[in-house]
Amino acid sequence: MHTTVKKSPLNVLLNAVLEPRDADFWLQKINPLWSVEQALGKIVHKDQTAQDTLSFTLQVNKHFQMGEAGQHHPVFVVVNGVRYERTYSLSKIDDKHVLLTVKKVVGGKVSTWLLEQAQVGDILELGQPFGEMTLPKTTAPLVLLAAGSGITPMYSLLQNLVQTQQITDQNVTLLYWVKTQADAAFVQQFQAWSAQYSNFKFQLLCTQEAPQAARLNAEHLALVDHLEQATVYACGPSGFAKQAEQVFSQAQLIQTEAFSMSAESSAEAGFVNVTLTQSNKVVTIPKGQSILVSLEQQNIKPKHGCRMGICNKCACNKAEGSTKNIINGAQNAEPGNLLKICVNSAQSDLIIDL
Ligand code: FES
Repeated sequence: MHTTVKKSPLNVLLNAVLEPRDADFWLQKINPLWSVEQALGKIVHKDQTAQDTLSFTLQVNKHFQMGEAGQHHPVFVVVNGVRYERTYSLSKIDDKHVLLTVKKVVGGKVSTWLLEQAQVGDILELGQPFGEMTLPKTTAPLVLLAAGSGITPMYSLLQNLVQTQQITDQNVTLLYWVKTQADAAFVQQFQAWSAQYSNFKFQLLCTQEAPQAARLNAEHLALVDHLEQATVYACGPSGFAKQAEQVFSQAQLIQTEAFSMSAESSAEAGFVNVTLTQSNKVVTIPKGQSILVSLEQQNIKPKHGCRMGICNKCACNKAEGSTKNIINGAQNAEPGNLLKICVNSAQSDLIIDL
């Protein structure tokens, strides 16, 4: 979707004489949300939604393009003078406001800054939406599997189903894994929807609190009706996404997103050499670990965005070598392939155009 934004006379004038960044400097003296071309959001409210989890209400400017429910947006913040990009799923509140929900990640610079430092009135830069886990066009049963922060796109999908009343025509099941009740976000809302709409089934599964629930496994298939006709969406750490792909393989369609690469993905032993043709370097990285993470550990900073295999910003050409997708296990040994380095690990020596 492409929208044309009409420029104000002040914008036109500033644009004619200044670079966008300089024009923004002056515009933001008048209103911090004004910009020649950048999508910005001002924090107008923050609220604790679960343990270590805050929801921010952002007032957005006219350059912001709301994604479809279930999509993600890049969010850029500057921490100690360094600009970081992270990916979050936003939910629409109204035409001028969106909800950004952030769970603290241990050691995570951006989530820690947002939870501990960000204040009402602060401005965040936002990017274009991306992601394919949007509402299916059919009314076939929909199964949503979420673990931890993987709940945010599911919340946005459900909110849309409720707003459009599609939830009255479609069987929807949400299974939500957390460590403890205190870690669960939006639970009251999910319970209210399941009380109101007979088509919506919701189950919270706590893995570290009585009654203790098991991690996702084949027994959970019993909680889902008509799996062969169902669309299944799963979002969580890579180990969860991988398990969902295996357990729900009989579904009509399964789509997964992983927001972090679990440690179990890096269980493979050994090292391989990666030749970076553009920077004329050869580096040795461990097998089994995300190539992006491995290169970053060697102080190489490849271009990237979501780190989840969705936005394509990290994709580069692989001239030679064998790789394995960390989420679904798919191997690729063909030469001349586009490779997303954030979700692939090296299985052999590689030559890539970085
Ligand atoms: S960083 Fe988005 S696909 Fe790799």
